[in-house]
Amino acid sequence: MAAFARNQWYVAAYGREIGRELFSRTVLGEPIVFYRTESGDVVALADRCVHRRYPLSESRLDGDKIVCGYHGFTYDSGGSCVFVPGQARIPRTARVPSYPVVEQDSFVWVWIGEREPADAATIPRAPWLADPACTTVSGMEPLAARYELLVDNLLDLSHETYLHGGYIGTPEVANTPITTEVDEDRGIIYVSRHMADAECPSFYAKSTGIEGRITRWQDIEYHPPCLYLLHSRIAPVGVVPNADGTDPDGFHVEVVYAITPETEHSTHDFWAVARDFALDDTGVSDFLAENNRTVVLQDVRALDVLERVIEAEPEGYQELSVNIDTGGLAARRILKRLAAGEGAQVVPS
Ligand code: FES
Ligand SMILES: [Fe+2]
Repeated sequence: MAAFARNQWYVAAYGREIGRELFSRTVLGEPIVFYRTESGDVVALADRCVHRRYPLSESRLDGDKIVCGYHGFTYDSGGSCVFVPGQARIPRTARVPSYPVVEQDSFVWVWIGEREPADAATIPRAPWLADPACTTVSGMEPLAARYELLVDNLLDLSHETYLHGGYIGTPEVANTPITTEVDEDRGIIYVSRHMADAECPSFYAKSTGIEGRITRWQDIEYHPPCLYLLHSRIAPVGVVPNADGTDPDGFHVEVVYAITPETEHSTHDFWAVARDFALDDTGVSDFLAENNRTVVLQDVRALDVLERVIEAEPEGYQELSVNIDTGGLAARRILKRLAAGEGAQVVPS
């Protein structure tokens, strides 16, 4: 049994995934049907007809209304039933829950908890993903593992050296100590690793064109529960930003993950890579898209295995944590606080 932080915003989809076709996705154990109204707004309703539970995503749109594919109950975009076959009276309880939705930074965010505290201003930002000054590649991979395993994975990048050798991992990543800071009030975790003189992995050598060794900075900013940002800076070795903060000789890559629990044992692993160089070079875009997807799938494979190990192990197994786990342990603490502090519900398997 896992407690989810329910009164939070979660990424449910990319905006490009939602159109005039009914689209279903489960978030925090709740099946949701998404579509756009004729005016382009995204609607999110519970994907279960109030009559006999038929999935509304298996139904059809009539203008902005969904007509259930089983017996024709018809719902407006707010989830209210406006037509019942064979009778004029519509029962007062004939409605399906609707979820608050915000489209921002190329994502569709949904609020799963109680409707009352949904405040769009609290959604963390990833502005690069919709910024014309950057070029972004992105995707989503299904993960057959609990979301906490992905949080752990992303907050400790020393695994790059071993799990992603030849792609983004070099010896310096695992060998360089991290610094971790936690902003307890805002609930944000920062983990940094600055490598002054490092081998350039192919991911960056091929995309930036830098030859030789690099100065490589990794600055993680995790906004629990859903949004993870890795500010990655690459430059020829010894090149650092100017005193005024400008950085014309650095290459900047923003690696963004949205970590959305699907169920207690599965996760939507949204990933995006935004860059501020080679903006129109489709060769670089194709290379980064394919390479990052390969890296994500290396993690997916490892975490899917870990999920099976955890499910099979005896109760009370104690893992061992070391320095590299400082960020991950802080994340667990904050996630627990978010789940408990908001009266999180236990989601049944
Ligand atoms: S299940 Fe939807 S109308 Fe009967
Ligand atoms: Fe990884």
